[in-house]
Amino acid sequence: ANAGGIPAAGRLNWSTRMAFILAATGSAVGLGNIWKFPYITGENGGGAFVLLYLFCIALIGIPLLIAEVMIGRRGKHSPPDAMRALAKEAGVSRHWSLVGWVGVITGFLLLSFYLVVAGWAVSYIFTAGTGAFNGASGDDIGAMFGRLVGDPVATTVWGSVVLLITSAIVIKGVKQGLERAVTTMMPGLLVLLLVLVGYAMTTGHFAEGVNFMFNPDFSKLTGTSVLVALGHAFFSLSLAGGGMMTYGSYLGKDVSLGKTVLTIGVLDTLVALIAGLAIFPIVFANNLEPGAGPGLIFVTLPIAFGQMPMGQVVGLLFFIMLSFAALTSAISLMEPAVSFLTEKKGYSRLKAGSMTAAGIWVLSLGSVFSFNIWQDHTLYGKTFFDVLDYLTSSWIMPLSGLAMAVFTGWVMKKTSTQEELPNGMTHTLWRFLIRYITPVGILAVFLNAIGVMG
Ligand code: PFF
Repeated sequence: ANAGGIPAAGRLNWSTRMAFILAATGSAVGLGNIWKFPYITGENGGGAFVLLYLFCIALIGIPLLIAEVMIGRRGKHSPPDAMRALAKEAGVSRHWSLVGWVGVITGFLLLSFYLVVAGWAVSYIFTAGTGAFNGASGDDIGAMFGRLVGDPVATTVWGSVVLLITSAIVIKGVKQGLERAVTTMMPGLLVLLLVLVGYAMTTGHFAEGVNFMFNPDFSKLTGTSVLVALGHAFFSLSLAGGGMMTYGSYLGKDVSLGKTVLTIGVLDTLVALIAGLAIFPIVFANNLEPGAGPGLIFVTLPIAFGQMPMGQVVGLLFFIMLSFAALTSAISLMEPAVSFLTEKKGYSRLKAGSMTAAGIWVLSLGSVFSFNIWQDHTLYGKTFFDVLDYLTSSWIMPLSGLAMAVFTGWVMKKTSTQEELPNGMTHTLWRFLIRYITPVGILAVFLNAIGVMG
């Protein structure tokens, strides 16, 4: 047997188990938790959606995150070649490498709109820092956000700033920098979110917010809610974006996959729920619309910063940390393409990083324009930004997840997966989930969605 997986020379490795946990948590926790989760929960009616989401995380997301990191760690290459190596080991077609390709390309597509929203967050560091929210009314703050996203030049500049910083870190090598950024920023972000929850408790609408999030009313779900919940489980756990597989390929054998992935999943889910608890009471206290869309946190939280004591400082720190959380995710979206180009084409990290960044920048303009000059160019009512988000999260990532479940559950030899998950009980439970529950769950969601649409 091929004990220890397939060796490859010269790969960088995480210095410690902690470094991997931090990088992977940094990838998972980002705009998905604080920006996207609250706004899609609002659009999909609250509690029932949250419940669906939690099921998707537990039964589909966690087993697949184990599978994805496992493929990377055992395949020891960038995603396409890691898949190819494991296909070879299992004696099946090398075309399974397609799954790795999809990961690299998905990371690329996701980053093109992710950086636009990250750019909004960075620009709000300055808006908050200059005290612009102090005492402003809900309408003023809504108008501020409208002015920001309505300005194609400003949002292009802010997005470019994010892309430049991301590329610089990726080119330098993700190991340095990432660890420090995550250890200081993550706990900070969590503390500030808790401060915001504290403020939300003073609004007099806290119970209404809790009720909205945790009292499931299934009649409030819309046709595609189930698909959106599944897609968000993928997005939030950074599944099928190539990043977790790439980070896994830098991971040593001594790490317990089960425990590590569980830690990441729990942290990721906690941050999203806490963000919701901070945001919805503010929504109700100010008569805002929970389904207001992508601007939700950029309109609700500034109201809180404008009213609470020391709000200017809290707001400033919050947007700094949100930007860092976005940055550590953006890095993991860019790393797969760079890792692939350096490994496969022999490019330097500088060349690979610059090429990837140039492509992403051009594509990002489509998302920037979706909020201004192209806002009326829609497909089935969706802007370029919406289409990109919907296709990646709701279709491409779950499909690629289905392929990964089949691959690790049915194609890879049991002895191989056992080597990766040496704890007997963990392996048995994981294998049962990944063979039956995860793929059937994904298929059921797809069939439901197709039924609803057709
Ligand atoms: N998980 C990140 C977030 O919630 O913000 C986004 C993300 C990163 C998705 C990396 C996919 C990925 F591969």
